[in-house]
Amino acid sequence: MNSKDIYILGIESSCDDTAAAVIHNGTVLSNVVATQEIHQEYGGVVPELASRAHQQNIVPVVHQALHKANIDKKQLSAIAFTRGPGLMGSLLVGTSFAKSLAFGLDIPLIDVNHMQAHILAHFIKAEGQIAPNFPFLAMTISGGHTQIVKVTDYFEMEVIGQTLDDAVGEAFDKSAKILGLPYPGGPLIDKYAQQGNPKAFKFPKPKVGPLDFSFSGLKTSVLYFVEKEINQNPSFIQENMEDICASLQYTIVSYLMGKLKNAVKQTGITEVAIGGGVSANSGIRKALQQAQTNKGWKTHIPKFEYCTDNAAMIAMVGELKFKHQLYAKRNVTAQARMELGKS
Ligand code: KG4
Ligand code: ZN
Repeated sequence: MNSKDIYILGIESSCDDTAAAVIHNGTVLSNVVATQEIHQEYGGVVPELASRAHQQNIVPVVHQALHKANIDKKQLSAIAFTRGPGLMGSLLVGTSFAKSLAFGLDIPLIDVNHMQAHILAHFIKAEGQIAPNFPFLAMTISGGHTQIVKVTDYFEMEVIGQTLDDAVGEAFDKSAKILGLPYPGGPLIDKYAQQGNPKAFKFPKPKVGPLDFSFSGLKTSVLYFVEKEINQNPSFIQENMEDICASLQYTIVSYLMGKLKNAVKQTGITEVAIGGGVSANSGIRKALQQAQTNKGWKTHIPKFEYCTDNAAMIAMVGELKFKHQLYAKRNVTAQARMELGKS
């Protein structure tokens, strides 16, 4: 093994995906995700069940990640783990596991901010992917967050806009629930939307500050709209699922793009990246591609496997922090709420 070879094991357990990945000098050798199906029955993530499932999954998932990467744990340079933000019980499983493994192997332990990882996932080396140049704007859109971040350097990030209430992923999932779709509903809305007319129905866009977001009103308007229509036609949802989803997705995507345009105008930065689960959405991906052609922005769209929660992004931040010797203290603890900033 060359001494310049860096092998990082990343561990992610912030919500309902147990994930482990190995990265070698920026290239992903393995990326294993165990998605917890149990939450589907409950229409949302049940924290207690999530942490229990993490406990069951973590050993086999880490084992599989090392096996697929074809390396022995003794070759690892460091172990990176999601410290937060996320569900406390879930975070604790990954944190304690990462700690014990790093202590056992006597290698550095590196704590990672999950939202920073969604942004720095763009630095993973992959075919057809070009890493962003600093400074760039990152819009992080997930089940727990909706932010616009000015990224000046790997560890220098400033949140310049964010949601005042629900996250955009929640807006997708809660609207889907109203339509009778199982959790998580975002990907299903996307699927139906592709067959529907985006102008069939009109939903209001909440008016807040130019870089702020608000989504709680949207789900209420979807609820009122559906209730009113069902009163007249009990099969309204079934007969109009594609058009409802297309109209909803159109409203959300144009709202997100409007905010990005405001951010570009305000900062003068035209290099734009998206990250987080909702960046898997076909509508936002298409809109961003169009902005590259029509507005001359330089846009960065993550590969599908690095959009939703994964450990490759955690290992990527681990590698960047390892190079700067930014290690965690031995008494580091999980943190449910964490801000993005200089770390
Ligand atoms: O980043 P992520 O996996 O977990 C969090 O950190 O929250 O994001 C999950 C969110 C869920 O709300 C899910 O419905 C949404 O991402 N999502 C989508 C799509 N794929 C995942 N929303 C809309 N369209 C999609 N294709
Ligand atoms: Zn996430």
